[in-house]
Amino acid sequence: MNSEIILDLGRQPIANKFLTSLSESDSEYFYRLKVLIERNTGLVSLKTLVPPEKMFNDDYVYHSSGSQTMRKHFKATAEKLNIEYAPQSVLEIGSNDGAFLKNWNTSIADSVEPCGNFAQITNSLGYRTLNSFWNQTTAKELDKKYELIYSANCFCHIHDLHDAFGAIKSVLSSNGVLVIEDPSLNKMVERNSYDQIYDEHAHIFSVYALDKLARSSGLRVIRVEELDIHGGSNRVYISHADSSHKVSFSVGRMLHIEKVNGVTSAAGLSNFEENVSRSKKTLYDKMHEFKKQGHKIISYGATSKSTTVFNYCGLGTDIFDYIIDVTPNKIGKYSPGMHIPVTNCSSGIPEDVTIAFLGAWNFEKEIVAKESKFLERGGIFITHVPEVREIKCTK
Ligand code: TYD
Repeated sequence: MNSEIILDLGRQPIANKFLTSLSESDSEYFYRLKVLIERNTGLVSLKTLVPPEKMFNDDYVYHSSGSQTMRKHFKATAEKLNIEYAPQSVLEIGSNDGAFLKNWNTSIADSVEPCGNFAQITNSLGYRTLNSFWNQTTAKELDKKYELIYSANCFCHIHDLHDAFGAIKSVLSSNGVLVIEDPSLNKMVERNSYDQIYDEHAHIFSVYALDKLARSSGLRVIRVEELDIHGGSNRVYISHADSSHKVSFSVGRMLHIEKVNGVTSAAGLSNFEENVSRSKKTLYDKMHEFKKQGHKIISYGATSKSTTVFNYCGLGTDIFDYIIDVTPNKIGKYSPGMHIPVTNCSSGIPEDVTIAFLGAWNFEKEIVAKESKFLERGGIFITHVPEVREIKCTK
């Protein structure tokens, strides 16, 4: 065997597939969520890959512009890349609702997006958007070279990475740069944030694995930046192997950190499953204890991540009254697998709620600031990252 299983998160549904009505539960799709590491490349991937059409379709509910943090992030990233490279041609792969794309002139920026609802939005804004998955066939259709290619939280979704990097090779201009941002394996293991693992994240990348993959397509990693975004991501810069870009010190530094932390081999990752299982037990016991004490408990943010947590830990409507979320096409639906109702809550957490699980723990700062009244009246946020803990008013 060329790979080894490192974690089993049990039976899971499609993390972003919210049910419109409970009657849909009879036909809900489930699969076994196991994670493996490939021995040769150190690539960490799901054992069972969910067909992309089941995840990325016209019903896709995640909006990049859904939070202030993400809007600011994409604007700042576009400004930074513009100052640094002043590209005359830009391609975004996985442009969602255009949060990044909107920061570029329509005359220089194109995109590729498999979800029809989003491709329609950016096309109507004037950006040429191909409504396709990223692969060699799509690259041929573009029929053009780009100086900057940007892709956030998209490469980790792509099953065939050799094809995806091959496609980059064919459309990246000779001195162009590909910039990808995806959740970091190193941070996930460090923070025990196992809920980064769900159907859409076919891979959780180490820079070690990315560099091996890039090199096998005649590309190479030239720079790495660590980001707080999405609970800990890496921004990885990639160029043609023979470009004039120098390989920055940041690459060697990150490769060293990953080696020391053991995230490039099954042996190095041997404690991860035990840590995840301990987190599950602690969270389960804590939530049941709160319920026994008579608390009214909700979850904050109907995230894909919380789908993994709730299905893995067995936390459902016995614990949570509902989940609140601002995303219009999640509201009125039911969470995947556990079928917890999702409601709108533009006026903040209701007065009678005493405990709120942070499904969107990656927005802890934004949410805690926004919900200061909840904390001031004695409300408690619970998160499991980096360990199960309570967030209370400190005043
Ligand atoms: P995100 O963490 O990006 O999700 P995923 O795990 O699915 O990748 O999604 C955050 C979700 O939380 C999104 O549905 C919007 C919601 N949200 C709120 O409802 N209110 C808020 O204040 C914030 C910051 C997010």
